[in-house]
Amino acid sequence: MKEKLAFIVSRIRAGRLREMWMQTRWIYQYVRKYWAVMIFYTLLGMVSTVVSLFSSLVSRDLVDIITGHQAGKVVQTFCVMIGLGIGNTFLAKVSDYASSYLGMKVDAEIKSDIFAKILVTDWESLTNYHTGDLLTRWGSDASNISGGVLSFVPNMVIFLFRFISAFAMVIYYDPSFAIFAFLGMPVSLILSKTLMNRMVNNNKKSAAMSARMSGFNQETFSNIQTIKAFDLIRLYVERLKSYQKEYIGMRLSFQRMSMGTSLLLSSVGMLVSYAAYGWGIYRVWSGAISYGTMTMFLGLSGTLTGTLHNLTSLIPSAISLTTSAGRLMDIVEMPREDYSHDDEVSAFFEKYRDQGIGLRVLEMDYTYMTGTQVFSHASIEAYPHEIVALVGPSGEGKTTMIRIILSLMQTQGGQAVVCGGKGGDGWKDVLPLTPSTRKLFSYVPQGNTMFSGTIAENMRNVKQDATDEEIIEALKLACAWEFVEKLPDGIDSEIKERGGGFSEGQSQRLSIARAILRKSPLLLLDEATSALDVATERKVLRNIMQDDYPRTCIVTTHRPTVLEACTRVYAIRDKRCVVLNNEEIDEMVRGF
Ligand SMILES: Nc1ncnc2c1ncn2[C@@H]1O[C@H](COP(=O)(O)OP(=O)(O)O)[C@@H](O)[C@H]1O
Ligand SMILES: [Mg+2]
Repeated sequence: MKEKLAFIVSRIRAGRLREMWMQTRWIYQYVRKYWAVMIFYTLLGMVSTVVSLFSSLVSRDLVDIITGHQAGKVVQTFCVMIGLGIGNTFLAKVSDYASSYLGMKVDAEIKSDIFAKILVTDWESLTNYHTGDLLTRWGSDASNISGGVLSFVPNMVIFLFRFISAFAMVIYYDPSFAIFAFLGMPVSLILSKTLMNRMVNNNKKSAAMSARMSGFNQETFSNIQTIKAFDLIRLYVERLKSYQKEYIGMRLSFQRMSMGTSLLLSSVGMLVSYAAYGWGIYRVWSGAISYGTMTMFLGLSGTLTGTLHNLTSLIPSAISLTTSAGRLMDIVEMPREDYSHDDEVSAFFEKYRDQGIGLRVLEMDYTYMTGTQVFSHASIEAYPHEIVALVGPSGEGKTTMIRIILSLMQTQGGQAVVCGGKGGDGWKDVLPLTPSTRKLFSYVPQGNTMFSGTIAENMRNVKQDATDEEIIEALKLACAWEFVEKLPDGIDSEIKERGGGFSEGQSQRLSIARAILRKSPLLLLDEATSALDVATERKVLRNIMQDDYPRTCIVTTHRPTVLEACTRVYAIRDKRCVVLNNEEIDEMVRGF
């Protein structure tokens, strides 16, 4: 017996229940803060239970008075009964309010927490998830949890209390009725492991499917231009329909299963009620109880089967809740970025602000999680007042190098540092690249990365206290002022989603202006001038270096047109970075 018990406990620990327990604990960490409301809600539920039990006693008295079995005042008893009914309605409303209060608070709490956590999650790990999937988890799963958080533990307490107190009352007035409370039990227990497993699997599948659909929709809406251009409208509409069909099919099969289960449960409930009814009639006939007591028992047996039903229906709700928690935990438990060097980096910045800060990558190795090796023993350096170019055909690793410099990804070997304090014998001070060192960089990414909002808002995103004059100055340096100036609203002109409303070359110049405005010691330009004509490209680069700020600038390009302006040119060859000499550069420019 003892062994068997230990076996069961070990199964619980290792298996799904243990998983559910962890997920439940995870959920309740968000609710902990609202324990007072939760207790209030639970107490309300209990009080309302007591009130209804009391009303069933009063109703018994009423029947007994009417049938002459007991002496008493009909009108008064009737009024008490109505009063109790109104009281319970009131309690139900208050508890509704408490429940929506808690739901909303917990919803906001979970969402803001997960939002912040997603933003500090290691970038490379995060790219394994589709944005649509992330949105579904952050949105629907979090709402699912906040909506169900009360219907789990507090409701379980309330239902158990209701069941036990109704049961105690039955035992007190006529123990022979108690048996009916248990008649329904075996069937409820049929909702055992197999059913639970099916529910868990179904929940996971349906969540994964809605994530896929939301990803599909999001991608469709943001690529409408491509879809129209390739005449894919019918294809995409059909694709959506087939996703929907699959989803509906799955939901319906689950619905049928739960329908079967609840049909079984309510048939049993009905059988139990009729059995109790029969037994009650027999007891009245044999004179053991009064009519009033019989009606009371019938009411109580309804409460008991109903509560049992409520308790069993907590299982699917718990399952859906914990499945959602599991899906959020997947995201939250990915590796976090380490921002612990923030203060050190700020001090470093202050110390070398006037002389500038350089960058050195030595013997660096990098392989993506997918297994693509991009760098092996690669070295590159860049110092204040230099423009260093990284050239090479597409797919060689230029963007990868920029991501490494920005600590978006962890290298597997070598050294990568920022350096300051150049003296007679080299650099006095170095600081390893970490997420904290990002504050030393300005970055102009490949592709369009403006946010929706006005030009000025976009600029102030990176420097909150920038004046209009500063913004205009940065726009001038980036050769963007020449078209912004002509816009009717100037720097207050709206940029649509992903730079909409501007040409690619214009967006690139806005993006460069944003980086210039931030005025960081290191500037990274990733193919940032690819959409500009050669003359503008040269002018922008010259402007960037002409102001006397001690900037270190690294540009990547697949076009050799700007190489003459650069201090040093690296090419990626055999997973390393090699410095090109003048002949090689000339050859590249000629061959372009
Ligand atoms: N997120 C990623 N996951 C896996 N491999 C990647 C990822 N991004 C780029 N790569 C691979 O790394 C190589 C270099 O890519 P990238 O640095 O973007 O090239 P470039 O910027 O020089 O055109 C490519 O072969 C590409 O397939
Ligand atoms: Mg690139």
